[in-house]
Amino acid sequence: MKTVVPPVLNVENLEVRYGAVVAATGISLTVHRGEVVALLGPNGAGKTSVLHAIMGFVKPAAGSVSFFDGRYVHDIAGLEAHRMAHLGIAIVPSAQVVLPRMVVEENLEVGGLFLLHDRTEVHRRMTALFERFPVLAQRRKQYAATLSGGEQRQLAIARGLMAKPKLMLLDEPSLGLAPMILKEIFALLRRINREDGVDILIVEQNVNKALEIADRAYVMRIGGIDFSGTSAEVAEGERLKDAYLGT
Ligand SMILES: Nc1ncnc2c1ncn2[C@@H]1O[C@H](COP(=O)(O)OP(=O)(O)OP(=O)(O)O)[C@@H](O)[C@H]1O
Ligand SMILES: [Mg+2]
Repeated sequence: MKTVVPPVLNVENLEVRYGAVVAATGISLTVHRGEVVALLGPNGAGKTSVLHAIMGFVKPAAGSVSFFDGRYVHDIAGLEAHRMAHLGIAIVPSAQVVLPRMVVEENLEVGGLFLLHDRTEVHRRMTALFERFPVLAQRRKQYAATLSGGEQRQLAIARGLMAKPKLMLLDEPSLGLAPMILKEIFALLRRINREDGVDILIVEQNVNKALEIADRAYVMRIGGIDFSGTSAEVAEGERLKDAYLGT
C-alpha cells in the first residue's frame, strides 16, 4: 500500500484582512520535505501578509495553516511564537530581529531558550552554529546593535536555527544587503536546507537569487497567487515578467 506523506507546511484557501481591506485571498501553497519554496511577487502583492499569517503574527480571516512534524499534523493558524518553536518552526521576520543590547552569544542563547533547557546542549548547538557562521564566531562578544546589516541578518538566521527547526520561514533575508553578502546568505540558506535538513519558505524581492536556491515558487499578483511551478518553469516563463510589470 502506498502511503501519502503530508506536506511539511500546508496552506489552504488562506485569507488575510486588515479590517475591511483584503490583503490576500484564496492562498493555497505547500512546502514538502526537503524543499526550499519561494513566495514571490511585486511590492504590495501581499507576500508579507501571507507569511505573517503563517507565522502566527496575524490571525487568518479564513483558511487553514497546518504543519506536519513527521508524525502528526498540527493546525498552526494563529499559534503563539513559543509554541511554533516547540513544534520545530523557526521564524525570521524581515526587520528588527536581533536584540541590539545583547552580544551575539546572548542573542543565540535566547534562540535556544524555548527548547534547550540544558546548558550543555545550548553550548553544543552554539558551537555548531559558529562553524556554520564563522563571521558570528569572530564577533561572539560584540553587541548585536554594532554588527553590520549582513551580520545582523546572519545572526537572525542563526538564532532561528538554535531551536533545531524542521521548517524555517523567512521574510526578505536579502533586504538592503550588498551583492557579495547577499550571495553568502543565499549559499548559507541552501546549505541549511541540503545539509541540515531544514525545509524553507522564503519571501523575496530578489527573484533571481530566490529562484536559484528554490525548488519551487509561487508568484503573487495583488491579493492572490497568480501562478506557480518549479523554479526553472517560473524563471523561463513569460508570466513572471507579466506579474512584475502588472500586465
Ligand atoms: N497592518 C496593516 N494594516 C493595513 N493594511 C496593511 C497592513 N499590512 C499590510 N497592509 C496592506 O496589505 C497589502 C499587502 O501588503 P504586504 O506587506 O503583505 O505586501 P508585500 O507583498 O509583502 O509587499 P513588499 O514587497 O513591498 O514587502 C498592502 O496594500 C498593504 O498596504
Ligand atoms: Mg513584504
